[in-house]
Amino acid sequence: MDCEALARRFYSIETLRRAARRVLPKVIFDFADGGAENEATLRRNEADFDRLELVPRMCAGVGTPDLSLELFGRQLRLPVLIGPTGLSGILWPAGEIAAARAAQAAGTIYCQSHGSTCTIEELAAGAPGARWFQVFLYRDRGLTRGMVERAQAAGCEALVLTVDNQVLGQRERDLANGFAIPPRLGVRGMLDMALHLRWLVRMRAARGIGFANYRGAAGHAEDIVSLGAYVARMLDPELSWRDVAWLRELWRGPLLLKGILHPDDARIAAEHGVDGVIVSNHGGRQLDGAVSSIRALPAVAEVAGDRLVVLLDGGVRRGVDVLRALALGARAVLIGRPHWWGLAVAGEAGVALVLDIFRRELERAMALSGCASLPAIDRRLLAPSAPNEPAAPRLRLVG
Ligand SMILES: Cc1cc2nc3c(=O)[nH]c(=O)nc-3n(C[C@H](O)[C@H](O)[C@H](O)COP(=O)(O)O)c2cc1C
Repeated sequence: MDCEALARRFYSIETLRRAARRVLPKVIFDFADGGAENEATLRRNEADFDRLELVPRMCAGVGTPDLSLELFGRQLRLPVLIGPTGLSGILWPAGEIAAARAAQAAGTIYCQSHGSTCTIEELAAGAPGARWFQVFLYRDRGLTRGMVERAQAAGCEALVLTVDNQVLGQRERDLANGFAIPPRLGVRGMLDMALHLRWLVRMRAARGIGFANYRGAAGHAEDIVSLGAYVARMLDPELSWRDVAWLRELWRGPLLLKGILHPDDARIAAEHGVDGVIVSNHGGRQLDGAVSSIRALPAVAEVAGDRLVVLLDGGVRRGVDVLRALALGARAVLIGRPHWWGLAVAGEAGVALVLDIFRRELERAMALSGCASLPAIDRRLLAPSAPNEPAAPRLRLVG
């Protein structure tokens, strides 16, 4: 399908999600689509965006809105970045390279996951434009150090330390489907795989899918599921601010913490020389019951002031959600699942379409709201009445 036909058929992120559901085996779709335990945080991430009402301004002479911004010294054409997602290569051969190329072509940034199916170096060769790298803190600090040094050598422009994943959340769709440790696909699961022929044929080309950055590390195994267990065993649940300070020493460049929800943590991050925080609950995949990202944002942004760049992810599905996040103090947002749906449907062209949908929707939302540029978006765009207002004060009282 050419790009125009693709864009005609898939006019929103939800249309792509439905198509991805058809294309992918259930076990893979649910791995991405699902969240932890009751999935309450997962649902709230999206629902809380819808509760934020806009009060648009008229006669503002907007014309075509300017979506450009500067982020850590790089000019971007879109305030929507692609966040780190492990194992993107199970959707499309060399999925990370496809997604990174689409992001770079759209004038934005791709953040490679620690758990990508290609190495840091392979991504740098296949998509040499703007890239960030996401890392965890391992019990073996040498493993973290090694990845950080490789990311630096490969020209990654920023390092993201994910801090909300040191203990893995329980994702119950994965347990039900047998995406578990050890694998328990069963007859139904195997049949479901076999029935998704398009995906099967496409993935024949992709050999040896796994966490490529760990190749050669002690205890490395080759199958995806036991690698999940392997990574879980490697993560250090005693992660503390001392480790953040250690990483700050090690990494020469912008350092961001991903998974910050409490304003006090944002304050402490700034005191440790961190450059930015990503307000995130890991897309509802970790602590079920955690506050939605958009509700946590105002209090974090207030503490951050000019000291930290504040980004947000979780539940961003529309251009108007980007507008809402920017109105509450985010400089830009990241997307996780939406880019997976594009990748599953059409590889690089699918991710390009996802970013184009966000661009068009944001442009339209800004034009309809009277915002000519991103700096013109502020809190006055949101209705002052409940449920917008309680978000910040209530969180500020905690702790
Ligand atoms: C399939 C999948 C894999 C993910 N892998 C990682 C990862 O390796 N590292 C990480 O920090 N976050 C990971 N995340 C979380 C995303 O970076 C992001 O926080 C989340 O998806 C944002 O929410 P959204 O999917 O609603 O946009 C993953 C999310 C998904 C859906």
